[in-house]
Amino acid sequence: MTILQLEKRILWVSVAFVMVLFALAALAVNLFHVGLPTCLTDIKPFQKGEVITHSPTHYEIHYVAKMWKFEPENVTVPAGSTVDIYVSTPDVTHGLALLGTNVNLMVVPGVVNYSRVKLDTPRTYQLLCHEFCGTGHDRMATNLRVVDRAAFTSTVVAPGGQPADPGYRLLDAKECLSCHSVDGSEGIGPTLKGILGRTEKMTDGSTVTVEPAYLRESIVNPSAKIVQGYDDLMTKTELTDEEVEEMIEYIETLK
Ligand code: CUA
Repeated sequence: MTILQLEKRILWVSVAFVMVLFALAALAVNLFHVGLPTCLTDIKPFQKGEVITHSPTHYEIHYVAKMWKFEPENVTVPAGSTVDIYVSTPDVTHGLALLGTNVNLMVVPGVVNYSRVKLDTPRTYQLLCHEFCGTGHDRMATNLRVVDRAAFTSTVVAPGGQPADPGYRLLDAKECLSCHSVDGSEGIGPTLKGILGRTEKMTDGSTVTVEPAYLRESIVNPSAKIVQGYDDLMTKTELTDEEVEEMIEYIETLK
């Protein structure tokens, strides 16, 4: 078989063209960090919802959609933020729609789906499950609140105006503060102000001097000992050991 001179040239030009394309793609990926298009993220499915602060204007929210709620609930970010939303599920197929935005994701077991949204105006967005997932499907809703920057900063500042301690933010995030005050005021549970070293009478008649070990027990196993005058109302909250220590460290500062 003979190949004409012209055909040879065309072949060479084509091969060279493809090689130049590959070289440009490699250059774009390595030099300019342009991501190659993909429909999968490299994040493994997660069990625990969380909010990660990358910068004051960039947040990453890991939602866990489970029968029948989203975690974390009621997230607040400041206006002007870019929010990366990742979602996974430990049980069945759900959906995630952030009403009023373009965020609309399927939530499929074993997969992490992703969307990015820029939230500029202060308002409350509803986050809903849009895939029928069982009897509690209609309850799968929570809010993503966008507040203006000044209001946002004040939500993470502890009473007294000090910058928020991570322990305080944790107590706030886990809703401990809806029952326990940090300023001495009465609540559904005892105040945390000056709690360390206080002597409390328990419902079983015993007396306890509050030290870190007692706080740890009361956080991890709320029903173990109940202070007289209060009811056994506190529910168990899932916390890591580090989170418990962080809370106790903060409580120790509340003299
Ligand atoms: Cu989850 Cu519907």
